[in-house]
Amino acid sequence: MEQKHPYVIKEQPGTKYYCACGKSQNLPYCDGAHKGSNFHPWKVEVNEEKTVAICSCSRSAKLPFCDGAHKLQE
Ligand code: FES
Repeated sequence: MEQKHPYVIKEQPGTKYYCACGKSQNLPYCDGAHKGSNFHPWKVEVNEEKTVAICSCSRSAKLPFCDGAHKLQE
């Protein structure tokens, strides 16, 4: 189900794979549910602990990150 606000997560350093197809059961992370489709997860290298806002409405111009576009659909 689409939510109207981004996923705000305090990430630890490492390689992150964020879902691009919307079918993951572990949003915002990829769980492999895209297999067989044309979607591929967003790969992001996190170099230091930081808080990220991951888009959940798919309207951001800066995917996989939120750019505030969800506010325009309310
Ligand atoms: S499960 Fe959605 S991109 Fe992998």
